[in-house]
Amino acid sequence: MASRSLRSVGAGFRADGVVPSSLRRMAQTISNERGRGPVSGTAVGKRGKRKPFLIDFYSTAVGKKYVMAVTGIIGIGFVIGHMVGNLKAYLGVIDHQGSRAYDIDVYGEYLRELLVPILPHGYFLWIMRIGLIAAVLLHIHAAYSLTILNRKARPVKYQSSRDYQVANFASRSMRWTGIIVVLFLFWHLADLTWGWFNPGFEHGAVYRNLDASLSRVPVAVLYIVANIALGIHLFHGTWSLFQSIGWNNPRFNQWRKGLATGVATLIVVGNVSFPIMTLAGVIEYDASVPSVQEVSE
Ligand code: HEM
Repeated sequence: MASRSLRSVGAGFRADGVVPSSLRRMAQTISNERGRGPVSGTAVGKRGKRKPFLIDFYSTAVGKKYVMAVTGIIGIGFVIGHMVGNLKAYLGVIDHQGSRAYDIDVYGEYLRELLVPILPHGYFLWIMRIGLIAAVLLHIHAAYSLTILNRKARPVKYQSSRDYQVANFASRSMRWTGIIVVLFLFWHLADLTWGWFNPGFEHGAVYRNLDASLSRVPVAVLYIVANIALGIHLFHGTWSLFQSIGWNNPRFNQWRKGLATGVATLIVVGNVSFPIMTLAGVIEYDASVPSVQEVSE
């Protein structure tokens, strides 16, 4: 049916009247999206009310892919920033307000002090946390609903071998690496932010908490495995986000591959170094160094 309607619209494409395969595929995609046409911003909801453009756009596969790409970029930005911030663990003890303090503890306090006195202590950090939580939830929701859309579309087989995406290890494992990262994140917050699973936890004593956690071999292994999974996820995510937003000209492929490799390598090498260096004794808490709270009092 799609081919017949396209034949009348696109008669000028081919002299023999045969609809090009790219247009046929496009028609299949459109008809698979619950039988609706491309987003126009004029779509109406169940009660005949016009849907807001963003909601209308998000209900299409293209909209969900854009949301995956944008929230993915936010996530990549966060993990890079977080890893670079954690490198402060290697700077050890510094002079802070005339006393000794761990550089990473001072940095943690600095994050809580951001935009003070415009906002009260810790508020800006909470705004960033809420933005990050929203991005993670949207990323998961878009991934889940795209999977449902793809399953519904499965009866329509690809037309030729040219249509197959290069399904490498990273792309096939996106769902698993994503689940591992989310489970890790719960453990990680319970370990280093809330302190539930951390034997030496003290609020605000980042260096001490880090050493108490990562000097346990099973926990160090967990961090290493989870961060390798994160690296695989980021490699494919960075590669495919350009595809999602339509920047997939073959001329950029080499550049995209380089960027994806660079981001994944940076995160894996940086993050895996923390458990390894803690086990090796390079990151080792010295109880004689006062906490930032004690210094500030
Ligand atoms: C070995 C790698 C990592 C180390 C050493 C590490 C270290 C830390 C530490 C020490 C904190 C507590 C900071 C504080 O109390 O102020 C923290 C919080 C956090 N980490 Fe990580 N992290 C690692 C990897 C990750 C990864 C891969 C993610 C995300 C996928 C992540 C997400 C978070 C989040 C969301 C928080 C809470 C931030 C907040 O409450 O403001 N971390 N991390």
